[in-house]
Amino acid sequence: MGKQVVDTSMSNLTHQFTNLAGKDGVTMKDILLQSIKNTKKELIGNNNGYHFLITGNSTDILKKLPDDSIDLIVTDPPYNKGLDYGSYYNDNKAWKDYFVEMKMWLIEANRVLRKTGTLYLISYPEINARLLPFIEDELALKFRRWITWHYPTNIGHSKKNFTRSQRSILFFTKSNNYVFNEENIIQPYKNPTVAKIKERIRLGSKGRHSYDLLNLLDMIELNKDMIDVIDINLLKNVSKDRFNKKHPCQLPLSLLRILVKVSSNKNDVLLDPFAGTFTLSAVAKELGRNSIGIDLNPQYVKLGLKRLKTNQVLL
Ligand SMILES: C[S@@+](CC[C@H](N)C(=O)[O-])C[C@H]1O[C@@H](n2cnc3c(N)ncnc32)[C@H](O)[C@@H]1O
Repeated sequence: MGKQVVDTSMSNLTHQFTNLAGKDGVTMKDILLQSIKNTKKELIGNNNGYHFLITGNSTDILKKLPDDSIDLIVTDPPYNKGLDYGSYYNDNKAWKDYFVEMKMWLIEANRVLRKTGTLYLISYPEINARLLPFIEDELALKFRRWITWHYPTNIGHSKKNFTRSQRSILFFTKSNNYVFNEENIIQPYKNPTVAKIKERIRLGSKGRHSYDLLNLLDMIELNKDMIDVIDINLLKNVSKDRFNKKHPCQLPLSLLRILVKVSSNKNDVLLDPFAGTFTLSAVAKELGRNSIGIDLNPQYVKLGLKRLKTNQVLL
C-alpha cells in the first residue's frame, strides 16, 4: 500500500492505522501528522525527534489520534483549586463536572496508549484516590504503584490544617508487557568490595533499589533514584529550571526525567494532554523521544514553542 492510499484512508479516522507504520515507508510521524491535520498545531524537530504542540481541548484532540499510537503518557491535569490559567479554562469547577471531564480524556488516553504503554497521572492524593478505581476497574489499566512525590514547602500553611507537601503519581501500564528500565532507578552498590556484593556484581547486578527516600542532591550525584517516594522541590519563581513565571504550575524537569527514562526508550512517542509549559516535550527533546503536547491556551503553546526552540531545556 502506498503512502497516498494511507493518507486517503486516514481522513475516515477509523483509528486503526498504527499497523501501517513501517509499511512502504509510512512512519508513525506520518500517521500522527495525518490524524491531526485539521488541528491548530506547531511541529518542531530534527533527526533526533519530532514534537507536536497542539492548541485545543485535550479530549477533542485525543479523539483524533489513532489507537495504540502512544508509548508513554505523563501528565498533571488542572487541580481544580482556582489557579489562573488565563481565560481559556476555569480551574474552579463543581467537583462533579471536574471528574466527568477527567474521565472523558482518560477514556481516550487509554485508547491511544499502546499495549506496551504506560500512564503516569500526577495530582493531589484526594483527586487520584477518586480516579484510581475508574482507571483500574472501568478502563482496565494495570495499577502498578502509588508513588508519592514529596516536596519541602514554605507555602500554603494553614492554621486549621496540615500543610500539603506531597502529590500522588499513579503508575499504570496497559498490559503486563511494559517498558521498565530498572537501571535508571538503581544506585551503584556503596560497598562493592564486600564478598557478597562482589558476587552479585559478578552475576550481572548493577546495584540496588534505594532503601530510603533520596533527596535531589543524592539524585544529582548518583543520577539515579528511587523508591516509591520521590523528594523533589516544587519549582519556585527563583528556581533555575522554571521556564516561565506566568504559568502557575510547572513540573520540575528532574521529576519528569526520571519517569521518562524508566518508562520509555529512545524514539518512543510521549504525550501530555495538559502540557502547560510543555515540560514533558522539553524532556522528550532532551532524551531523544518524540512528543505530543496539548494545551487549551494558545499563549502556553507559544511559550512551549519558544522553550523547545531554545536550549533552555538542556540544564
Ligand atoms: C497543571 S497545568 C500543567 C503544567 C505542565 N505539567 C507544566 O509542566 O507546565 C494544566 C494545564 O492544562 C491546561 N488545560 C486545562 N484544561 C485543558 C483541556 N481541557 N485541554 C487542554 N489543556 C487544558 C491548562 O491551560 C494548564 O496549562
